[in-house]
Amino acid sequence: MASRTDTSITIDIPLTRESPDLLNAQITGGLLGCPKTLPSKLFYDEHGSTLFEQICELPEYYQTRTEHQLLTRWADEIVSLTGAEELVELGSGAATKTRVLLDAMTKAEQLRYYVPFDVDETIVRRVSEELIQEYPGLQIHGVVGDFLVHLEHIPEGGKRLVVILGGTIGNLSMQAAKEFLTAVNSEMASGDFFLLGLQLIADRERMEAAYNDTQGITAKFNKNIIRVLGNTFGSEIDPELFDHVARYNEKDHRIEMWLRSRQDQTFTIPEWGLSVALKQGEEIRTEISTKYDQPLTDQLLADSGFEMVKWYADADNLIGLALAQKP
Ligand code: AVJ
Repeated sequence: MASRTDTSITIDIPLTRESPDLLNAQITGGLLGCPKTLPSKLFYDEHGSTLFEQICELPEYYQTRTEHQLLTRWADEIVSLTGAEELVELGSGAATKTRVLLDAMTKAEQLRYYVPFDVDETIVRRVSEELIQEYPGLQIHGVVGDFLVHLEHIPEGGKRLVVILGGTIGNLSMQAAKEFLTAVNSEMASGDFFLLGLQLIADRERMEAAYNDTQGITAKFNKNIIRVLGNTFGSEIDPELFDHVARYNEKDHRIEMWLRSRQDQTFTIPEWGLSVALKQGEEIRTEISTKYDQPLTDQLLADSGFEMVKWYADADNLIGLALAQKP
């Protein structure tokens, strides 16, 4: 007889079927563009996910604990307003904050199904194993994929609450976020709820300090993208030939992370015949982290086909949680 653990976890891995051509096009296109960029999803191999978990604990990185407190404060209300029995989480990562919602759903006797969706297979497997122990009877259907590409792998569900927490949406420009949330909306049934966590526009020093921590963990995380390129695609380039740079871009209301070349060097991926010359001081943008306020969020959600249900923010206006519904 199959044990519960055998029967309640399903993991679908569309990412391994992601065409190498697409990745090649994304990376090559980014490195040949102006400015030069790399896709942020490349941060998250096993080492990168671990570094990100460390970032979340940094004294300077106020975002994670603030969102955690906000969720803890409002989880019961959110669960009761939505009546959700199924939680779908895009960019689930270590699912630390998720547990706050799962606990509230358990308390309300509503919890049936959890769908963690993340680009890192190791973390989806680990979290699924952990949660199945912590929440007896919970069914888990994990998806390992790029949520910009593989949304259709989300299983059909009952009364669903789709969540994107941790400021993950910030990795997209506002325009790209609208397109992405429109796609999320079209995967949802009418009446389904959507909870979006947003990092809010705060004072510049505070925001920049969160990406320039004194322990240098964020710098390691940034350089990990170079390690991943080496391990995955055989590029021969030393992460230590770059400096970590993070600064606020006022116009686009976002933090940008860059890798600045310490010397003239050539970035090659021999397998693809790719060779990119970098000058000393030249920068590659590895991440954007767009910050929002309530009016920008209203606009984002309305333009993506959602109706706003309720807005939550902490007393210092650092993090917002927007609860919305598909009409
Ligand atoms: C995972 C995109 C929310 O933008 O704050 C943290 C990633 N990068 N420190 C963010 C990140 C450097 C994080 N998000």
